[in-house]
Amino acid sequence: MKILKKLLILALIAFVVMQFFRVDKNRAEGDYLAAFVAETNPPDEVMQTLKTACLDCHSNNTRYPWYAEVAPISYWLADHIDHGKGELNFSEWDSYSKRRKDHKMEELIEEVKKKHMPLDSYTWVHKDAVLSDAQITAMVDWAERYRALLSLGDRPQ
Ligand code: HEC
Repeated sequence: MKILKKLLILALIAFVVMQFFRVDKNRAEGDYLAAFVAETNPPDEVMQTLKTACLDCHSNNTRYPWYAEVAPISYWLADHIDHGKGELNFSEWDSYSKRRKDHKMEELIEEVKKKHMPLDSYTWVHKDAVLSDAQITAMVDWAERYRALLSLGDRPQ
């Protein structure tokens, strides 16, 4: 019992100390999606789905919940965001090569169809991010249209 009490106190101290180590927030100034929207031209419904279900992890701007302030949750969220952005960042769309854009859209279609995205850990707390079949179809249609347009242009570099 004595040991348990000591461990609890240690855990509490560790928790308090953790709060002083803040992580940088994923926040962009200005229009962080302009190039992506202008180029891929998502219909309103798709734009809405991207906003509610994808952009928190795949753009330079995250809408943070209040508990994002609390360590270690803040570390865990930052890790997901870094990882998600590393794979696909719509805010950096204009810096992607044509080949990369095409590949990312191919992945997007696959991930959304298989319901791998958004991540389960995200939909546990963001119930509005669970995609309906209609949302999935609209997103896949949009991505396929964009890929078709890409393939009409020059050969991917
Ligand atoms: C909670 C954060 C989070 C959300 C929300 C999220 N993703 Fe992801 N996404 C990730 C992470 C982390 C990875 C990389 C690891 C993996 O594949 O599981 C990833 C990977 C991907 C990839 C794979 C990229 C590649 O080249 O392999 C695609 C495509 C993708 N996400 C699309 C989406 C779409 C579309 C949505 C919205 C419907 C979405 N994601 C929502 C975190 C997220």
